[in-house]
Amino acid sequence: MSFKSDLKYSDITPKAAWLNRRQLFAGAAGLAAGAALPAVPALAAGRYSTDETPNTFEEISSYNNFYEFGTGKGDPAANAHRLTVDPWSVQIDGMVDRPGSYDLGDILAKMNIEERIYRFRCVEAWSMVVPWNGFELNQLLNMAGVQSGAKYVAFETLVRPEEMVGQNSRFIDWPYVEGLRLDEAMHPLTLMATGLYGEDLPKQNGAPLRLVVPWKYGFKSIKSIVRVTLTDTQPPTTWNILQPREYGFYSNVNPTVDHPRWSQATERKIGGGLFAKRQDTLMFNGYEDEVASLYTGMDLAANF
Ligand code: MTE
Repeated sequence: MSFKSDLKYSDITPKAAWLNRRQLFAGAAGLAAGAALPAVPALAAGRYSTDETPNTFEEISSYNNFYEFGTGKGDPAANAHRLTVDPWSVQIDGMVDRPGSYDLGDILAKMNIEERIYRFRCVEAWSMVVPWNGFELNQLLNMAGVQSGAKYVAFETLVRPEEMVGQNSRFIDWPYVEGLRLDEAMHPLTLMATGLYGEDLPKQNGAPLRLVVPWKYGFKSIKSIVRVTLTDTQPPTTWNILQPREYGFYSNVNPTVDHPRWSQATERKIGGGLFAKRQDTLMFNGYEDEVASLYTGMDLAANF
């Protein structure tokens, strides 16, 4: 794949519309507190963004997997409006120098928010291209101070069945949990998304804070995160707990390693219409140059 460096979605959109309200507010709050921050979040060069055409806001926010709101693709968009996302805090604990409960506004005031147009590939063999706004996870981890000896990062989604109607069904042992190896978590492609198309992240997409790991199947990209834990042991992950033979810890996009029940060689890009041709799935979802070195010497079929 190629990465464009010249034109970004933000270049063709008025900046005021592009920056999301929460991020602007967070920047202003940081300044008021005397922090050395730019007045608006810096807009980084698009070196990690794809030049493929993004899916529409409507497509990205109406075809979702977010089982806390139901198992149908339209359930999250129909039900997620009940979720309260402000105030929001994130517990950061385990092997960190500065554990604690961090208010999201305080976090955002310290983060460099940028736009990343990423390919997104679900394990169910559909894909999208998504213009996220967010910050690199490594910034958050550095803020908390990762201790030597930490090897993994574990993530947890909110549990609030009164607002998350799907949590009244027990087929998942809530909370939804996910994890990354520390080097994967520190990789500059690994994003904590807070926005979409310059707007606040829609609730069905994981507001107010969700992980995006573009070279892994979408289920690794855990939504509505309330806890981040540094640990020295590989953390349990929801889909691996549910179906260990079908979903591994790594879940790197790999067209040569099929799911036990379907091929992963091709994918259906959402929005192409009923008769659109399937497209080839790319190794590491097209991010091979950036991330292959993380897995040197590893058997990717055994570590699926
Ligand atoms: N996170 C939580 N908490 N609950 C979920 O059900 N679904 C995952 C992932 N993150 C899920 C989740 C799956 S299977 C996918 S494909 C992506 O979210 C979908 O993200 P999207 O709806 O923004 O496209």
